[in-house]
Amino acid sequence: MKAIIVGASSGIGQEVAKLLLADGWTLGVAARREEQLMQLKALAPDRVEVMTIDVTETDADERLLALIQRLGGIDLYFHASGIGKQNRTLDPDIELRTAQTNALGFMRMVGAAFRYFAAPSHSPRGEGAMIAAITSIAGTKGLGPAPAYSATKALQANYLEALEQQARQRKLPIHILDIRPGFVDTALLNDNFPYPMLMQPDHVARDIVACIKKRRHVRIIDWRYRLLTAGWRLVPRWLWRRFKI
Ligand SMILES: NC(=O)c1ccc[n+]([C@@H]2O[C@H](COP(=O)([O-])OP(=O)(O)OC[C@H]3O[C@@H](n4cnc5c(N)ncnc54)[C@H](OP(=O)(O)O)[C@@H]3O)[C@@H](O)[C@H]2O)c1
Repeated sequence: MKAIIVGASSGIGQEVAKLLLADGWTLGVAARREEQLMQLKALAPDRVEVMTIDVTETDADERLLALIQRLGGIDLYFHASGIGKQNRTLDPDIELRTAQTNALGFMRMVGAAFRYFAAPSHSPRGEGAMIAAITSIAGTKGLGPAPAYSATKALQANYLEALEQQARQRKLPIHILDIRPGFVDTALLNDNFPYPMLMQPDHVARDIVACIKKRRHVRIIDWRYRLLTAGWRLVPRWLWRRFKI
């Protein structure tokens, strides 16, 4: 099996890459930092192709297609790229950069993968192709401390839901998996804030790989966050605005 992971240079994406490599997959790994990607290549030089991709650049989709070509096709596109920061003062730079990466960059890359899989010449065999992406539980509600992050994560989840329906309507064999973790101990949370219920990236990656194998549709990780978000959804707007997060 072959996959491309965009956002494989650290954190959850890097852990998923290691697990898929251990499982015998051939990988294309991408992100902006080449040195970290080369460390993955060192683990299995014959089964890893490296490409630097910045999802905010307009040529990122072309670079993705070039990487797919280098691999001779793929079964899975895995989108792990993302940035996120608390922004309690609504610094516009943080808001707009988050939108560039998590909204525009996300649609650019996931859209390119979808169009690639949708093309008749690239129709995958067997169970069909899969697009998996890490969104977040932050997309469940608008979160005051991180407006752009929670809004872009809601956009991502909505976009995946739309693509899932479009694939079905067009009878395209493209499976969509939306992965929504709670807090994970990665560089994304390096702001010294005491995040509760912190999970380790290798634990989250194992859950993700199991979901890929089981061809799940949506996965909130872990059970504590499944309970928390189910509760959040029940909170009416007049009460939510009073929540201290
Ligand atoms: N950590 C959490 O608590 C948590 C919770 C829920 C969801 N998530 C989501 O999980 C995903 C992975 O985050 P992480 O926690 O593993 O953090 P991370 O270690 O910071 O990883 C983020 C990855 O995204 C890549 N990336 C960032 N901007 C990029 C760009 N412009 N172009 C290409 N790649 C880019 C980074 O690579 P380069 O810097 O090398 O480009 C890196 O590989 C994100 O979408 C995040 O929102 C995280």
